[in-house]
Amino acid sequence: MLFKACKTDQLKPGEALRLEAEPPIALYRLSDGYYATQDTCTHAQASLAAGDVDLEECTVECPYHGSIFDIRSGHALSPPASRPLRTFPVKIIDGEVFIEID
Ligand code: FES
Repeated sequence: MLFKACKTDQLKPGEALRLEAEPPIALYRLSDGYYATQDTCTHAQASLAAGDVDLEECTVECPYHGSIFDIRSGHALSPPASRPLRTFPVKIIDGEVFIEID
């Protein structure tokens, strides 16, 4: 199903938004568009939408213990997290951002 997230102008590059979907999703705007991952860190319970986004590396840093994840692939790049994040396809339709959740 398609989950309606926000309008395309709601996020600036480098910003992220937590979406109360099932599961909660973090929507990020990078320089080349929008990406979505599960919002909850794979190490503990941090919300990654509250983490720091690095626009050059396309990564997010977990606000609890500092693990870094590749936003586009979901891969965990540094400990203590080791498991990847689930990623979700993003669609833009008429100026609105949608996440595809199966
Ligand atoms: S909760 Fe994210 S690294 Fe610990």
